[in-house]
Amino acid sequence: MSTVVVIGSQWGDEGKGKIVDLLTEYAHIVVRFQGGNNAGHTLVVNGDKFIFHLIPSGILYEDKLCLIGNGVVLDPAVLLEEIDKLAQSGRQITPDRLKISEMTHIIMPYHRLLDHAREAAKSGTKKIGTTGRGIGPCYEDKMARTGIRAVDFLNASLLKEKIQEALKEKNALFKHFGVDIMNAGDVYSEYMNYADRLAPYITDITAILHQAQRNGENILCEGAQGTLLDIDHGTYPYVTSSNTVAGAACTGAGIGPTRIDYVLGICKAYTTRVGGGPFPTELFDEVGDIIQKNGHEFGATTGRRRRCGWLDAVALKNSVYTNGIDGLAITKLDVLSGLETVKICNEYQYNGQRYHSIPKSMEKLTAIQPLYKNLAGWTEDLTTIRSYEDLPPKTRQYLKEIEDLAETPLAIISVGPGREQTLLLRNPFESAKK
Ligand code: GDP
Ligand code: IMO
Ligand code: MG
Repeated sequence: MSTVVVIGSQWGDEGKGKIVDLLTEYAHIVVRFQGGNNAGHTLVVNGDKFIFHLIPSGILYEDKLCLIGNGVVLDPAVLLEEIDKLAQSGRQITPDRLKISEMTHIIMPYHRLLDHAREAAKSGTKKIGTTGRGIGPCYEDKMARTGIRAVDFLNASLLKEKIQEALKEKNALFKHFGVDIMNAGDVYSEYMNYADRLAPYITDITAILHQAQRNGENILCEGAQGTLLDIDHGTYPYVTSSNTVAGAACTGAGIGPTRIDYVLGICKAYTTRVGGGPFPTELFDEVGDIIQKNGHEFGATTGRRRRCGWLDAVALKNSVYTNGIDGLAITKLDVLSGLETVKICNEYQYNGQRYHSIPKSMEKLTAIQPLYKNLAGWTEDLTTIRSYEDLPPKTRQYLKEIEDLAETPLAIISVGPGREQTLLLRNPFESAKK
C-alpha cells in the first residue's frame, strides 16, 4: 500500500497529466486535491488527445476510482461538460467511477465575473494574468466562510439563501467595478440544474480514502499548477489562490501527513510560465522561440502562448525542499534536441552578490541575473527512445546535471506526449518509503 503525491515543481504545465495517467496503472484511486479548472492536464493515449480541467487524469482507466477532493474549487458546468464529452467518446462516467467531496467549494458565476473585473481594473505589469475561471474569488469566499459547498447542492432552500446572501455583497462590488449586477433567482435556477445532475456523485471522499488505505490500496494524488504558483511559497502576488505544494494533498483530500509515502516532482527539461510575474531564466531570443515552437507551448486552458526559458535549478531546489520531493520526472526532454548548447541556471546574482534561493521580494526577483552552467546540446531525436541507456551521452550528461543540482534522483524521463514515450527508471509506488 502506498500513497504517492504528484506535484508541479515549476510554474505549472510540467506534464503532470501525462505522468498521472501513466502511474494510474499502478493505483486504485486517483484524487485531485486543489485548484480548479484553471488547470489543463493533457493526456495522449493511442494518438488520442484529452485535456482535463477538473476530472482526475486517471479517468481513462475504467477500473479505477477518481475523486475530487475538498481542496478543489469546482465549476459544475465545466465538470458536466467533461463528463458529457467523455460520454460522447463512449466513456460513461458514472458515480461509481467519479466522486466529489461534500466539502468541495463551488465556483459561482459571480466568482468568474469578479475575477474578470479585478483583472480588467489592473494595468500593465500589475495584471496577474489569471485564467479568468473565478478561482481566486471562490477561494476568497471559502476563507471568508461564505462559500457554497457541494453538500449545499443537496439542500435547495439553503442553496437559494446562500446565493441571495452572497449576491448582496457581490453586487455592491460589481457596482464599484461598473459591471452589471446579477440576479439571485437566475443563478439559483441555473445551479439547481447542476445540483440535480451532480447530486449522485457527492459523498464523503475522506472516508473512502481512509478505507482504501486500510485495505492496502495504492492512492495517487494529482496536483495542479506548480510550486512557484503556490499562494504561500510561490512568486506572490503572481500566483494562484491555493496551496499547490505536496502538503496540500493532506488538507485537500483529508490524508494525514504520516500517510503520504512518496512525492514525485514533475519538472520540464526547461521552464515555461503563462500569465504575468517574474521569470528569471526567460528567453527573449531565437532559442526561446525554438523551444516555444518545438514544445508547442500554448496553454491547455486559455490557449495563451507560454513564456519559455532555461531550466532554473535554483527554483527547482527550492521546490525539492518545499515539497519534500523524493524523485523527479523530467518531461519534454525531446524538445531540446537540436540546440547547440543547453543551459541550466545554478545561481542568481544581485548587486554583486550570489544567491542560491529565490528572493521573496518581487522587485529583487525581477532584477536578479541568472548565472548559467553551459552544457553541450544533442541533435538526436529522442521520441522513439525507450531506455535510459539508449539516450545520447550528452542528453544523459544534462540529466545527471539536473539530478546533481536538485540533489534528487530521477524517477521518470518523458520523451514525447504519448503514454508510451516514457522511461520509467523507478516506480514511485515501489520506491515508497514504507
Ligand atoms: P500539465 O498541466 O502539467 O498536465 O501539463 P499540460 O498538459 O498543460 O502541458 C504539457 C504539454 O506537454 C501537453 O501538451 C503534453 O501533451 C505535452 N507533453 C508532456 N510530456 C511531454 C514530453 O515529454 N514531450 C513532449 N514533446 N510533449 C510532452
Ligand atoms: P496546470 O495544472 C500554468 C496561472 C495563471 C496565472 C496565475 C493565476 O495546467 O499546470 P488563476 O486563474 O489560478 O487565478 O491564475 O496562475 N495558472 C497556471 N499556469 N498551469 C496551470 O495549471 C495554471 N493554473 C493557473 O496563468 O498566471
Ligand atoms: Mg496545464
